[in-house]
Amino acid sequence: LDYEVILLAAGQGTRMGASRNKILLHLIGKPVISYSLNTFFNDPACKHIILVTQEDEQELLATMVKKETKKKRCPVTIVSGGSERQYSVYNGLNALIDPENIVMVHDGARPFVNLAQLKALHRKVQETRAAILGVPVKDTIKRVFNGIVQETVPRETLWQIQTPQAFYGTDLIAVHKLAQQENYLGTDDASLIEKYGDLPVSMVLGSYENIKLTTPEDMLIGEAIVKRKRS
Ligand code: CTP
Ligand code: MG
Repeated sequence: LDYEVILLAAGQGTRMGASRNKILLHLIGKPVISYSLNTFFNDPACKHIILVTQEDEQELLATMVKKETKKKRCPVTIVSGGSERQYSVYNGLNALIDPENIVMVHDGARPFVNLAQLKALHRKVQETRAAILGVPVKDTIKRVFNGIVQETVPRETLWQIQTPQAFYGTDLIAVHKLAQQENYLGTDDASLIEKYGDLPVSMVLGSYENIKLTTPEDMLIGEAIVKRKRS
C-alpha cells in the first residue's frame, strides 16, 4: 500500500528571525526543504508529494523541485498554503490523488526524518489507521502559572511529538472538516483525530535528530547533524 505526502512549506518562519522563509535557508549548501523532499523521493512507497507553499514562493520552489526530480519519478503537485498550518494541511488534502490513500503530513522545517522512520510509520499506519512519530521527553517538565511552579508532571508518559504523522485520507479530511466547523485550531493533525475522531493514535519511536528548525540556534544544531550524517 503506497502513500501520498503533504509537505508543508507555507509558513513565515517568524521565530527564525531570518530575512526569508526558513525552509529556503541554506543548511550546508542546500535549502532546508530539499532535505525532506529528497527523503520522500527516495522512498519507493511514496507515490505523490504535495508541496504546500506560499504563493510568492511557488516559482522558486517549482524550479528547485525540477532540479531535484531529474532522476526521480514521484510526481510533485504544488499548492498554496493558508494562514494557519491547519489550513495549509487542508489545502494539501484537497490535492490527494485518492482520499482512500494513506497520507503522511510532514513539516518542511524537519529536514532530518529518515527512510527507516518513514518505513516504521508506514507499517504502523497500515495496522492501526493513525500513527505519529515522537520521542520520550528528556527534561523534567513542570506546570507553571504566573511564575510559580504548580506541579512536576510525571515524565514517564510524556512524549515530544514530531512529523510525519500518518492517517488515511478519508479519516483526516473528516476531522479537518469538523474542526473547521468549530473554528478549532490544533497544533498538529493527530490532535484533530484525538478530538474529533474515534481512532486511537499509535506512537512510533522516532529519533532525537528529527528536530524542527524553529529558532536560530536550531540551524547550528542542524549543521552538526548534517555533518555527522556525512562523515
Ligand atoms: N506551515 C504552513 N502553513 C502555515 C504555517 C506553517 O505550511 N500557515 C508549515 C511551515 O512551513 C513549517 C511547518 O508548517 O514547515 C511547521 O510550522 P512552524 O515550525 O511553526 O513554521 P512557521 O509557521 O513557518 O514558523 P513560525 O511559527 O516561527 O512563524
Ligand atoms: Mg508557525
